[in-house]
Amino acid sequence: SGAAVAELVAGRVLDVPDFPKPGIMFKDLMPLFADGAVFREVVDGIVAHHGRESFDVVVGIEARGFVVAAAIAYATGVGVVPVRKAGKLPRATHSASYALEYGEATLEVHQDAFTAGHRVLVVDDVLATGGTAEATLDLVERAGGTVAGFTVLMELAFLGGRERLAPRPVHALLTV
Ligand code: PRP
Repeated sequence: SGAAVAELVAGRVLDVPDFPKPGIMFKDLMPLFADGAVFREVVDGIVAHHGRESFDVVVGIEARGFVVAAAIAYATGVGVVPVRKAGKLPRATHSASYALEYGEATLEVHQDAFTAGHRVLVVDDVLATGGTAEATLDLVERAGGTVAGFTVLMELAFLGGRERLAPRPVHALLTV
């Protein structure tokens, strides 16, 4: 059930104070990835929520989103497309920038990443302010994909990411 999967996530996240900067409480999901049975439950929970027939390809957001996206892709027999930080992809890209507390960040996707009209499930480990997700959903659409859903393992509700992405729906296995 959804509540059971939420409990699994809650039991496998470590709070790391002052990482990567002072004042930030980092949510480390590496213990979840490292536990094979829990990781499988989490991946199966995401697939069950969206439905195997609801997407044609999975996007993973660098870096921890890659881990989740590849597992969903393998489990369902679809392909995986990476959205990467600036300068990492070798061919022509679309890029989207968004403001950080200090400065800005840029994400990129290959221009030919999607077959026109393909339904894209976007996944990441954590939703915080939503800047990363907003840029990624924009990139998917600019590259010709149709966003079929956006899922994270964990949502930090007090940072307002869900409101930032509205009216696009957000699915989180665990909301804190
Ligand atoms: C983290 C996390 C999300 C993003 C969420 O990635 O994995 O991708 O931040 O933050 P936001 O909702 O405020 O945009 P990070 O920037 O640590 O990159 P990494 O996975 O490459 O280490």
